[in-house]
Amino acid sequence: MKYARIAGWGKYVPERILTNRTLEQMVETSDEWIFSRTGIRERRIADSAETVTSMSVAASQAALQVAGLDSSELDLIIAGTSTPDYLLPAAASMIQDELGAERAAAFDLRAGCAGFVYGLTVGSQFITSGTYQNVLVVGAEITSKFIDWQDRNTCILFGDGAGAVVLQADDQPTGLMASNLGSRGADHSALFVPGGGSKYPFCQDVLDRGMMNIRMDGGRLYKFAVSTPVRVAEDTLRSAGLTIDDVKLLIPHQANMRIVESICKRLGIPQERVFVNIQKYGNTSAASIAIALCEAAEEGRLEPGDHVLLLGFGAGLTWAAALVRWGVPELSLSWMLSPHAIGEQLHAAGAWGTARRAGATLLAAAGALFLATFSRSKGA
Ligand code: UT7
Repeated sequence: MKYARIAGWGKYVPERILTNRTLEQMVETSDEWIFSRTGIRERRIADSAETVTSMSVAASQAALQVAGLDSSELDLIIAGTSTPDYLLPAAASMIQDELGAERAAAFDLRAGCAGFVYGLTVGSQFITSGTYQNVLVVGAEITSKFIDWQDRNTCILFGDGAGAVVLQADDQPTGLMASNLGSRGADHSALFVPGGGSKYPFCQDVLDRGMMNIRMDGGRLYKFAVSTPVRVAEDTLRSAGLTIDDVKLLIPHQANMRIVESICKRLGIPQERVFVNIQKYGNTSAASIAIALCEAAEEGRLEPGDHVLLLGFGAGLTWAAALVRWGVPELSLSWMLSPHAIGEQLHAAGAWGTARRAGATLLAAAGALFLATFSRSKGA
């Protein structure tokens, strides 16, 4: 069986910084309100020349460099974004062109802020199935172009940026260990851009009615964000045969610091094992976890063999949890003989269920033998 190792990571954020202080001059708000309610101090805003493609290309080049891979070796590019340059074609095709990844297949994946974790899951499956060797997964967003800068409910939250990872086929157990994806479309109106799609195509009326801007029901999203992702994270850990204590680092979607704190409290993970950069970038939607993962790696917070839990949620409403093993731990005899490693090998060989049943039968047989011997010796 092949595994999808995260072999490279990169990020790009625009240079232009928009601080809470500057926002105070644009809408009726304050640095104190924004920071205490969201944890955000500033965010990055793309300039007029920057696009989702240009940001993605910069992040991808950095990721390819870390992986030591040439773009011509890429088999597939998945771009998690809801703000591509064009409705048609996919941003992934433009990224493919600019990277010079001639033989890569390319498609966009729209799953709101969960887009990068969705992409990581899909990309990993192309590798574990043996279809591809090298997959590039990007999370990129230029939300600033869809913001009503008079709407204090939304304009204080979002920022622009891109992150990328290179997945490479590996024989050692690494990369995605378990995942859980989902969606509750019934609540799609909690976060959406009503105009510009095929239902309300772009026209002056759509523009005048503000239908090209993000509309958000913050309260509804908040309730969703502090509950569903927790259940999803727990399910994912369970299917990986791990507990929250085995997680070295939780990287949640950087939506709101209060949401992050609530998730951590419910999951029972201390803040020291949670990666947060919302103060610098705000909510960068599909880019948020990709950028955070890259910064965590750059800051040396991940060692080979560490388990990282990625937790995305957002427009859709979607959710995506991914339990990732970082790098490949050095193989020592004690590690190979540990119950966890043995369980993992059995799991990979598809023999875990059989082994568990065999173990249970053996235990039952030993118990019966003990009882029989005990009662015979008592009777004697
Ligand atoms: O990627 C997923 C996307 N989005 C999310 O995850 C967002 C989830 N929701 C949130 O993060 C929070 O709901 C917000 C940050 C959007 C809002 O925070 P809140 O604590 O839920 O505030 P609120 O909407 O209940 O508003 C409280 C008060 C209101 O005033 P009154 O009615 O109490 O007088 C608002 O009008 O704060 C007011 N308010 C503001 N004041 C200053 C709302 N926005 C602002 C603002 N500055 N920017």
